[in-house]
Amino acid sequence: MDTPLYFRQLLAGRDFGEDDPVACQMQNFVYLIGDRRVGECFVVDPAWAVRDLVDLAGRDGMRVTGALVTHYHPDHVGGELWGHEIDGLPTLMEVAPCPVHCHRLEADGIRKVTGVSASDLVTHGSGDTVRCGDVEIELLHTPGHTPGSLCFRVAGSLVSGDTLFLQGCGRVDLPGGDSDQMFASLQKLKTLPDSCVVFPGHAYSGAQAPMGDLLGQNHYLRVADLEMWRQMFG
Ligand SMILES: [Fe+2]
Repeated sequence: MDTPLYFRQLLAGRDFGEDDPVACQMQNFVYLIGDRRVGECFVVDPAWAVRDLVDLAGRDGMRVTGALVTHYHPDHVGGELWGHEIDGLPTLMEVAPCPVHCHRLEADGIRKVTGVSASDLVTHGSGDTVRCGDVEIELLHTPGHTPGSLCFRVAGSLVSGDTLFLQGCGRVDLPGGDSDQMFASLQKLKTLPDSCVVFPGHAYSGAQAPMGDLLGQNHYLRVADLEMWRQMFG
């Protein structure tokens, strides 16, 4: 069946930003999600080499008309990380100005690390949807790694940011992290269909896998009790 969905997973340091050794080390995934029929897409977590990302979309006949942010960390939106200046949202605002969708609890962090203005951001709560052409993307609030972390659900896929990796979950020991919230967020994600394909924010242990597989292989998803979670990871 003909589907309008355009979905690309791009690995920083391999598919773009190839000359950046820090990008190679960090293994961030960026996603382009949109509607082929209208030729428009959103970029999830634009960072590392934003001009390359816009050009990549362009070579597919797609124009970047929005950004989605999983969370405010500089490897996902740009800014300074360990003395390195990472390309990100300010470049996107320059080369392809567009609304930047984020959770309301993440807006201050994004402004602080990138310097973008409040008027560049469109803030959301959990369950909101955004549309790119006929493609609908649902925003799931999954705090724990940061207070306003989001996952994006589109068609049969979940872009999980730094909330859920194939073999683990995001760190909860960074500023704004919360172990109990991470537990609750993972319980929420476990209710997604087994067939839902998870696309994480880093390539630490793979690029994609169905939720049904993760339920068997990811130890963090297997814990079903908060007290046990606290004993193991708290
Ligand atoms: Fe992160």
